[in-house]
Amino acid sequence: MDIKKVPKSVGKTLEIKGWVYRKRESKNIIFFIIRDSDDIVQCTIKDDNKHFEEAKKITMESSVIVKGTVNKDERSPTGYEMKIEEIEPVHIAERYPITKDQSTELLLDYRHLWLRSRYLTAVMKIRHTVVGAIHKFFRDNGYYEFDAPVFQPSQCEGGSTLFEVKYFDDITYLTQSWQLYAEAAVFALEKVYNMGPTFRAERSKTSRHLSEFWMAEAEAAWMDIEGLAQLAKDEVRFIVKEVLKHNRKELELLGRDISKLEVVAEKPFPTITYTEALNILEKKEGMKVKWGKDLRTVEEDRLMKHFDVPIVVTNYPKEIMAFYKPKDPKDEKTALCMDMLAPEGYGEIIGGSQRDTDIKELEKALKKMGEDPKNYEWYMDLRKYGSVPHSGYGMGVERVVSWICGLESIRDAIPFPRTQRRFKP
Ligand code: 4AD
Ligand code: MG
Repeated sequence: MDIKKVPKSVGKTLEIKGWVYRKRESKNIIFFIIRDSDDIVQCTIKDDNKHFEEAKKITMESSVIVKGTVNKDERSPTGYEMKIEEIEPVHIAERYPITKDQSTELLLDYRHLWLRSRYLTAVMKIRHTVVGAIHKFFRDNGYYEFDAPVFQPSQCEGGSTLFEVKYFDDITYLTQSWQLYAEAAVFALEKVYNMGPTFRAERSKTSRHLSEFWMAEAEAAWMDIEGLAQLAKDEVRFIVKEVLKHNRKELELLGRDISKLEVVAEKPFPTITYTEALNILEKKEGMKVKWGKDLRTVEEDRLMKHFDVPIVVTNYPKEIMAFYKPKDPKDEKTALCMDMLAPEGYGEIIGGSQRDTDIKELEKALKKMGEDPKNYEWYMDLRKYGSVPHSGYGMGVERVVSWICGLESIRDAIPFPRTQRRFKP
């Protein structure tokens, strides 16, 4: 919290509480790079200082309090340097297990320490902006924050990815989505949103899947699919603008091509149908996808080569959609649904739909997927007492962070990732 004062302290004395990020020493001088939550700063101490011998003993990642005068110095990493007058070790660190060029697995084992890296610190700061922007966006647009249970008795997005939990003498599941409960809430609050941990027993080991991720969801009464698509576009643009406003330094540190995000902040996002997407794939990519098949990662990526902003894809085949997505009366083979796909190979960031209000259709869809409609009686009640058209969507927070930061893997978009292969530390 002190290093941010460095640029304004040239010629003055400053005290900094922080950690030793790097240390380089020769016979008569030691260079420390000290880091804190703001930044890093180079600090030097010479052998004519009475603390020199003590400074020699200070290891990497030790916590220290240093005091000295700040100067401008072109040769130092941030353009400033502190001449140390006093240095007080608060705790001398043991030999730090993370050194240069470590394997991904080791860095994941030491995630609790790797969090201190400048890379992950930058990502966490951007995540902080993204999460804050989501709350701000919905609150400013009249949405109430509404919480749903994490223990849920049934599926929302298909039984195969449910995490089963022992619940006293019974079993229940960890939430796959807040949606079904939000559909109850819109009859009271009309517009609701939430952001929270979501669980999927995903067998796919991809750079896009976590088994615990944060989903930001919204649900609104009286809203149709067009209104929903517009809301999603407005939200994503707002998030990107907020990151551009607050996190240029972090984006630069991550090596992100900021001009690509600036395009997203300005240009309209197109909407196309699933069928149009298949046409683009066939005509421009020579890829033939059979109508009725879901778009796989490869197909999403090839499609997105033709767009530099997120796009909304509507009207996926009804047959392959979750039970609550209604058929489109104008094209009954398709559903009133939408996904938003991010550019640059980041794939689906949002999934949503209008909600089916026809009890018979819902029961048919549930039975087809082997579910007992009896378990959804409470949900059917919502269609019996003053039913209204309503819609909603869910956004994968880590997918968005991963795209905005330009990460190689979604794992780094969350502090302690949980995947099929890892739930520690
Ligand atoms: O498309 P999904 O499955 O939609 C739903 O769960 C709806 N019930 C949401 C709603 O309408 N309220 O998931 C929504 C988003 C996806 O677009 C994706 O961004 C993210 O959640 N997501 C994941 N992110 C990380 N790891 C996973 N395993 C994810 N599964 C979905
Ligand atoms: Mg989806």
